[in-house]
Amino acid sequence: MKILLVGSGGREHALGLKLKASALPVDLFAAPGSDALAELGTCLPLGSEDVEGLTRWCAQARPDLVVIGPEAPLVAGLADALRDLGIAVFGHDQATARLEGSKAFAKAFMGRHGIPCAASRQVQDLAEGEAIIRAWPHPYPVVLKADGLAAGKGVVLAQTEAEAMETLRTFLDGRFGDASKTVLLEEPLTGMELSLHVLVDVDADHARCVVLPPCQDHKRLGEGDQGPNTGGMGAFGPIPFLRPEDLDRLRQDLVEPTLRGCQADGLRARGVFFLGVMWTPRGPKLLEYNVRFGDPETQVLMELLDEDLPGLLKEVAEGRLERQDLTFKPGCALTVVLAAEGYPETPVKGVPITLGPAAVRVIHAGTRKEEGRWLTHGGRVLNLVAHAPDLDQARRTLLEALPQADWPGRQVRHDIGLRALRHAEAHRTVADAW
Ligand code: AMP
Ligand code: GLY
Repeated sequence: MKILLVGSGGREHALGLKLKASALPVDLFAAPGSDALAELGTCLPLGSEDVEGLTRWCAQARPDLVVIGPEAPLVAGLADALRDLGIAVFGHDQATARLEGSKAFAKAFMGRHGIPCAASRQVQDLAEGEAIIRAWPHPYPVVLKADGLAAGKGVVLAQTEAEAMETLRTFLDGRFGDASKTVLLEEPLTGMELSLHVLVDVDADHARCVVLPPCQDHKRLGEGDQGPNTGGMGAFGPIPFLRPEDLDRLRQDLVEPTLRGCQADGLRARGVFFLGVMWTPRGPKLLEYNVRFGDPETQVLMELLDEDLPGLLKEVAEGRLERQDLTFKPGCALTVVLAAEGYPETPVKGVPITLGPAAVRVIHAGTRKEEGRWLTHGGRVLNLVAHAPDLDQARRTLLEALPQADWPGRQVRHDIGLRALRHAEAHRTVADAW
């Protein structure tokens, strides 16, 4: 099978490895790919948002499947352009990708279809926004969200009125260009955050999905959830204390109304929805939709998935996802992100990495190879992924492997999964205080 994988990060390396692990031969192409992906196939000199270039390549090369990793090409309409050529694409149409591309659009969708979420107000005018903040009816912080894509930096939890006012002003002044000309002011939700991935196949005449094991990401840079927000410093799944009835609730409250909503609104869906969920004291609420796989959640999910990935993604891409369930390996998978010095603000690139033989999987997220040596080449550099019978053992295996991948200034959290492990060991459930 000839497959084009769009993207270049750790998520794409994990997907690439799983695609190549197929029982069938896979001829893998990646755009733009990375030096790690070049070891699995052919990298094309085309950016992931180069809709025209990618369309031209596909028209000529006719891949059997295109898998789109990041959100930006989906929001830019890459899937539509390729589908117009009759090519099977795992990735949503532009209209559906607005669920991630515009938080105001997503919020209106949630409201229309009765999906539980935080109360919010949408503003485009400074004076109106200031008046809302002055009369803020919820507890602090004020959650301010840029409407459009802002590379994961468009959400601010303002702890004071002054900070909320200042953030609002900079957003509306164009801190993220047009993406922040509309701002959502949102009620803060508390509880336990989780990442729920669902493969979805929705069209006018059917709405089908399979739910993947819930994962938990760790967004803050520092141990104990301190420090600035990042794209994610580590993740694990499944969450050991989630009971079957909790999964049923996620399905009933969030997944099913999302599928019905897509169908009612004429939004075709052929890819993955990654729901950012907060399990509050009043049950699960939706923080946001993503129309792509999470990074680093994908590294966990690909480790657990016990299916032939090319075949599975092609079923979704062709709108014929018939199965109700997927097979997953028993146990727990856990990934830790090894980040560069200076991440997330100004990662130091070009630092040589010492990479020994690790007893765990090594995923390349931001590396470059020069004269046979791996160098740091991005903020999140490597991800180690362990799979073990349970979360405790996965943590131990991973921590033991950590010294095998090192460089000066490496930043790493040693407490990935620890809070969940303590919660499980104390026999607490998701309904108990997190
Ligand atoms: P989002 O891009 O909407 O997921 O926001 C990024 C992060 O901000 C989320 O992963 C949450 O940790 C946090 N966040 C977003 N919305 C809220 C909210 N209403 N209350 C509390 N935290 C939030
Ligand atoms: N790990 C969170 C994300 O991919 O957005």
